[in-house]
Amino acid sequence: MKIAVLPGDGIGPEVTAEAVRVLEALSLPGLTLLEGDVGGVAYKRHGHPLPQETLDLAGEADAILFGAVGDPSCDTLERHLRPEQAILGLRKHLGLFANLRPARVFAGLEHLSPLRADIAAGLDMLIVRELTGDVYFGAKGRRVSEAGEHEGWDSMSYCEHEVRRIAHVAFRAAATSGLPLTSVDKANVLETSQLWRDVVIEVAGDYPQVALDHMYVDNAAMQVVSHPERFGVVLTGNLFGDILSDLASAAVGSIGLLPSASLGERTTAFGTFGLYEPIHGSAPDIAGQGKANPMATILSAAMMLRHSFGREAEADRIEVAVGKALADGILGGDLGGTYGTAAIGAAVRERL
Ligand code: NAD
Ligand code: IPM
Ligand code: MN
Repeated sequence: MKIAVLPGDGIGPEVTAEAVRVLEALSLPGLTLLEGDVGGVAYKRHGHPLPQETLDLAGEADAILFGAVGDPSCDTLERHLRPEQAILGLRKHLGLFANLRPARVFAGLEHLSPLRADIAAGLDMLIVRELTGDVYFGAKGRRVSEAGEHEGWDSMSYCEHEVRRIAHVAFRAAATSGLPLTSVDKANVLETSQLWRDVVIEVAGDYPQVALDHMYVDNAAMQVVSHPERFGVVLTGNLFGDILSDLASAAVGSIGLLPSASLGERTTAFGTFGLYEPIHGSAPDIAGQGKANPMATILSAAMMLRHSFGREAEADRIEVAVGKALADGILGGDLGGTYGTAAIGAAVRERL
């Protein structure tokens, strides 16, 4: 079981190290960890945020554990050399179109949410975010308008097959869990969204047992924090999913708690090939201070064991250990506590 570990920038290496220690603590036979450079650190060492050797390492692995990329000192580079291109490139190159971002308030941990406890108690949703299309990957550029002004432009589009395959992922998740499915779009304004909605309705024909509704993204943002209990599985595009998942993480309590799995069609001898990462970024404001909460990355490692290695029992053990640590008051600064990265990692391992 080969795992490519790509720590990246900022707090990426700090949180990834704790997730690796948790994986090592499980003593799984045959587990091999191989490290590679991505992001700003790769640009500085190799002149590119996603060097060929990292792509090769990722391609040979059965799964990827990814930290975060992003470095303020790289924000003025040409776009194709910026650290963020590494994660976008990996997703696209590896065909990882399905991003699963579970957001839930653990029972008894409603107090970690900034929402009223009775509202927070209902928050348990799986955001299924399309990850290789939308305005993220359309043509973009600068031009001079007719009035002679500089103009920036991006193009949003989805093809039927892109919507259909991610819709099937979300419908299957809803069908197996018995949860309702909400498709989030902006079909009242965007043609991309109208096509999205038409295709979702067509795919729904294959899943008569799933309760489906459609919601505009502005309303969805409002409902996530006022009536989170209305959501089970949330199906949405790349841009809306990016924004709604940060929002959902804040409603849980912190962005330092939300893991993700990015999956495609490729399978390995052990399960589905995937890339696993926290939903947060490199957090330059706290990088290098040992303050970052590693729980999102540790929970991402649990998702890896479940989806890529069929190790359901070990995945459960990690999730239970994180829940216990939180219940025991092991809280990072993001949750109003005083525990640092290493102490949180150690506390989770003690509870495995
Ligand atoms: P961010 O997620 O890095 O940070 C937002 C806020 O949340 C900051 O105040 C940060 O300190 C805090 N935070 C994030 N993770 C935390 C953790 N584990 N523990 C405690 N606090 C945490 O978002 P940003 O500041 O908008 O972006 C910073 C950089 O990261 C940018 O370069 C951005 O492009 C990049 N980014 C990368 C990814 C990724 O690699 N997948 C995701 C998001 C942002
Ligand atoms: C995320 C991040 C990325 C995204 C950026 C860094 C490209 O915000 O993984 O949520 O927008 O997908
Ligand atoms: Mn994001």
